[in-house]
Amino acid sequence: MQREIFLSGMGQTRFGEHWDKSLSDLMSEAIDTAITSSPCTALDIDLIIVGNMLGEIGSDQAQLGSLASSLLPHRPPAIRVESACASGSLALHTACAFLESGRAKTVLVVGAEKMTDVSPDVIAQALMGAADAEADRPSGLTFPGIFGLIASRYMYEYGLRREDLSLVSAVHHARSKENPFAQFRSEISPETVSESALVADPLRLLDCSPISDGAAACILSTEHGSTIRIAASQIAADTLSLTHRPSITTFPATKEASEKALLEARIKLSDIRFLETHDCFSIAALINLEDLGFADPGHGVDIYRRLYKRKSDAEILVNESGGLKGCGHPVAATGIKQVIDVAKALCKSGERFGLAHNFGGAAATCGIHILEHTHA
Ligand code: COA
Repeated sequence: MQREIFLSGMGQTRFGEHWDKSLSDLMSEAIDTAITSSPCTALDIDLIIVGNMLGEIGSDQAQLGSLASSLLPHRPPAIRVESACASGSLALHTACAFLESGRAKTVLVVGAEKMTDVSPDVIAQALMGAADAEADRPSGLTFPGIFGLIASRYMYEYGLRREDLSLVSAVHHARSKENPFAQFRSEISPETVSESALVADPLRLLDCSPISDGAAACILSTEHGSTIRIAASQIAADTLSLTHRPSITTFPATKEASEKALLEARIKLSDIRFLETHDCFSIAALINLEDLGFADPGHGVDIYRRLYKRKSDAEILVNESGGLKGCGHPVAATGIKQVIDVAKALCKSGERFGLAHNFGGAAATCGIHILEHTHA
């Protein structure tokens, strides 16, 4: 990083169905908590970056920068960033660029999404905006369908069994049970996952992250210090359509962003103790562990076998929050909420490094943030 950037405030709403709250209400709740948790005041914020994908469709609302700015007394300038499910990490990355250049000293980053006020069909179609409108949409695919294809191919290439894939959601639900901000706070067994309703073969209901409302906010500052600093902020891109890729069982954007992030933080992968990774579907969690370098291709499930047994020597702790599956996935809020969860885990444990991995579409955009606990 060109300058030292601190995570000096954070806040989020519970993720879930918030039929009684508007997009503005959700943003306001997350922002207020972030400001209250920070050493700075609202008036110290000199820029807002808003992450959002579905404002127009879910809430008839565009101009989200101005909407967020109106929530602060001095109406600072604001910018909206959209990159599908990676909107949150891209908003954070944009904030880092402003802070590194010196054009801003304290930036509020807020990601918000309202997905449950319109029918699931409308949201499924809107989410397909994260795929290629010419190459992917005419086939009738939805995102569960896209990841169903990925899961089928992965099972064919590596012999992954249905019962092993079910460990992923079972682990995430066991963790989200302990998280007061999570949408789902109940444990599920691998058998329940395997027997849940078929959505897009081989993926079942409990392999899928749900449709959710929610907001998350961080204050990043070069002036107002804290014990957590951003050690790296990196992004990478891939083809929008899977049809243009040589393989669909690996996501090169994850590899590129994580290699750049480790270099920027000047650490090794083995220095990372906590990982929040983008498990939009169970199969994605396995591929992510492999692309990030924590497992060899086809062996991501070995880590979940250890996590399922809660082996304390598991080399990396994955989605201690419950991940997207357990916590819910209000798309643009997710990347910011992941950074909050990594920061909380570092503060609670005293460990030094954690990594937040967020992607949009089928990893057509990837954002990675490495956080450091400076007193660890
Ligand atoms: N995990 C666990 N439970 C879920 C769930 C999920 N993913 N989705 C719904 N449920 C529960 C609901 O709470 C509801 O429970 P209830 O009857 O006790 O209230 C029940 O299952 C049925 O829910 P419903 O809303 O009717 O499900 P649905 O069939 O409309 O939607 C999916 C299910 C999986 C299709 C939908 O959640 C989905 O599309 N998820 C993927 C979202 C996505 O693509 N995100 C972008 C990723 S890149």
